[in-house]
Amino acid sequence: MPEDSLTVTDNRTGKSYELPIDHGAVRAMDLRQIKTDENDFGLMLYDPAFMNTASCRSAITFIDGDRGILEYRGYPIEELAAHCTFLEVAYLVLFGALPNPSELDHWVYEISHRTMLHETTKKFMEGFRYDAHPMSMLISTVAALSTIYPNARQIGDPEVRLRHIKRLIGKMPSIAAMSYRHSVGFPYVYPDNDLSYTENFMNMLWKMVEPKYAANPVLAHALDVLFILHADHEQNCGTHTMRSVGSAHADPYLAVASAASALSGPLHGGANEEVIRMLEEIGVVENVPAHIEKVKNGKGKLMGFGHRVYKNYDPRAALIKKIADEVFKVTGYNRKLEVALELERIALSEEYFIKRKLYPNVDFYSGLIYQAIGFKPEMFTVLFAIPRTVGWLAQWQELVVDAEQKIARPRQIYTGARGLRVAPITERVAGAGIR
Ligand code: CMC
Repeated sequence: MPEDSLTVTDNRTGKSYELPIDHGAVRAMDLRQIKTDENDFGLMLYDPAFMNTASCRSAITFIDGDRGILEYRGYPIEELAAHCTFLEVAYLVLFGALPNPSELDHWVYEISHRTMLHETTKKFMEGFRYDAHPMSMLISTVAALSTIYPNARQIGDPEVRLRHIKRLIGKMPSIAAMSYRHSVGFPYVYPDNDLSYTENFMNMLWKMVEPKYAANPVLAHALDVLFILHADHEQNCGTHTMRSVGSAHADPYLAVASAASALSGPLHGGANEEVIRMLEEIGVVENVPAHIEKVKNGKGKLMGFGHRVYKNYDPRAALIKKIADEVFKVTGYNRKLEVALELERIALSEEYFIKRKLYPNVDFYSGLIYQAIGFKPEMFTVLFAIPRTVGWLAQWQELVVDAEQKIARPRQIYTGARGLRVAPITERVAGAGIR
């Protein structure tokens, strides 16, 4: 019997099966041979929310949730945050190695020369209501880019793929900035290719009548580091959506719009917006114990706490907490930080949170920095989507060239009725449906 195998006995039949183990996993399809008789479909795995199912092999991001480790292509996130710019990290995540100086120059040129939006896209965005949520505008506009680049459907052509990957990375900040300017009624600002990726984003957000926008270097650096920390996070809900939609061979604009839709939810990237609302609701440090009690009694969640994978401090939250000090030196003190620190202090010493291994996640402190830099809460998830586009595209690229991947299609366990006859409409019982 090979050492790397699992022996399973089906107690219904008394038969034993030997399943190979590869990289700590057995193949779910190997269970299909386990049947009670010839007519049996075969055994399936039931795993709602994919709590213990690997859906792909990936060489992009490594997470050790118990130890609080996050690495992109083998580089710890702390190394990358200390030594690289966001576009260098984007190159690493997409191509698997850090760029040398000429590769980086070329990459920066290629991205910065794709930041401009077609004028019809600008007109499209002008059609949104004055109070449209910036995240909904971003998602819809990214999807609309699919109408401008119909050849993006040629996903089997590596050159076409790369062109659209660059376009998406270049255009996300432009769409994000226009979403913001639209929501406050300011005229749109065109990109400035002399500026870095993050500085140009700040230029498109906040330039008013000055001839050239000059970003505060501390704030631009903080935003760049935040972008690095959000670039990828393996198979989370948004990335899973990217891969699932991509597996049907939809074009990358539509797939990114789908992934961004998943990200917008308050349990995912939308949590940073909710954290600020929660801190505002709590108001002062004295109210923290009462809020913790409410959470412990099942009346709401502590937003920005808990994670499916991290059962330790989220390493991104630790880095963000450090950047907060740099940012607050420039922007001035934010009273909400006191409330956040007290929430963390009490939560980390309470049995409820210790038992469930609930620690601050990436969203707990990021909103405070975003707000200090000058973003309104509705923009927070948009700020998450810009860098995550890199991760989505890297994962999509990996999927497209993976010979093992097919269209995503989970199974179900059917629990409904079967074989019913349609009764005449006058004979149907009122209220018989599921509510
Ligand atoms: N506050 C209070 N209790 C919590 C929290 C929280 N934030 N998160 C989980 N729990 C409890 C949960 O009620 C459950 O308790 P019990 O065992 O008594 O039923 C236990 O902890 C396990 O939680 P779970 O819901 O089974 O965990 P999950 O892996 O399904 O959910 C999560 C992960 C991130 C959705 C969840 O922790 C959560 O809703 N957190 C708040 C929202 C948030 O901050 N989201 C951002 C996640 S990080 C960035 C991203 O992914 O985009």
